Amino acid sequence: MTRDSSARTAVLGSGYYRHHYTDMKPCEGAWSKPHGAAAEQGGDGRGAAGDPWKDCMDTAVQLALTAGQVVKKALAEEKRVSTKTSVVDLVTETDHYVEELIISALREKFPTHRFIGEESTSAGSKCVLTDSPTWIIDPIDGTCNFVHRFPPVAVSIGFAVNRELEFGVIYHCTEEKMYTARKGQGAFCNQERLHVTKETGIKSSLILTEIGPKRDPATLKLFLGNMERLLTFQAHGIRVIGSATLALCHIASGVADAYYQFGLHCWDLAAATVIIREAGGFLIDTSGGPLDIMSCRVVAAGTMELAQSIAQELQTIDYGRDD
Ligand code: IPD
Repeated sequence: MTRDSSARTAVLGSGYYRHHYTDMKPCEGAWSKPHGAAAEQGGDGRGAAGDPWKDCMDTAVQLALTAGQVVKKALAEEKRVSTKTSVVDLVTETDHYVEELIISALREKFPTHRFIGEESTSAGSKCVLTDSPTWIIDPIDGTCNFVHRFPPVAVSIGFAVNRELEFGVIYHCTEEKMYTARKGQGAFCNQERLHVTKETGIKSSLILTEIGPKRDPATLKLFLGNMERLLTFQAHGIRVIGSATLALCHIASGVADAYYQFGLHCWDLAAATVIIREAGGFLIDTSGGPLDIMSCRVVAAGTMELAQSIAQELQTIDYGRDD
């Protein structure tokens, strides 16, 4: 593993990647021009009838699969690692490459849409949700896992219109699981319907969280204090898997009861929010109020009772906002 601790490594469109990935086959259809209803409507992905954003969602699934193949292949290979907001906030050439791959394909097909991407935002692009159709993308969620070859690694693509999340697509690259949800149409993993658990109390629940990139003593004290309080209530366990999006997919899948975190971003939350809601779950702000995907904090659970109980126990760790 090669570590490059300089602030950033410019890699977009580098010869390394063109050479390195020429044998990757894009999934069929992922790169095609607007077709069918989308073409009739000027290529904005809005179908003439039925589901208004079907073409967009189909494209997202194809791109997540293609990107996932790239990530899976790169997982086993040597990586050039750089850091972002802290020495534990990692980024690799593959993060940049995959984000560029996804956004350029979407921009070609849906030229009027807007984009929020983790790596473009780090590079200075604005992170603002407007009423325009907007794609919210995490090219590799679980970059630290990816660097260490620890399996939970995902590609996450969310889509919002009028600031409302319409669909979410998350691809677990190593387990080859495709999580999808369309507003009002349920949540699925590889076509199988997902349902959250009905656990209402902290006692006996299995809770997931993530650490976030700050490691100063005050932040760690708050982080550990929050864990300690939940464990005092006799939660069965707390797990940290290194990928916020996949942890949230576990809540949607009903294999864990709740998730909370300070320090995640809109690209960690966008797709997963639709998936959890469509699996019957709830997401709120850690203050107990409505979710704001730009606020860098969340509690998600199968029931509102459990989400509120957890929120009541949490002390705030301030990560600012994405916008
Ligand atoms: C991060 C991971 C991590 C979580 C961070 C996320 P990234 O995403 O999900 O587990 O603690 O808050 O931002 O950087 O790997 O895409």
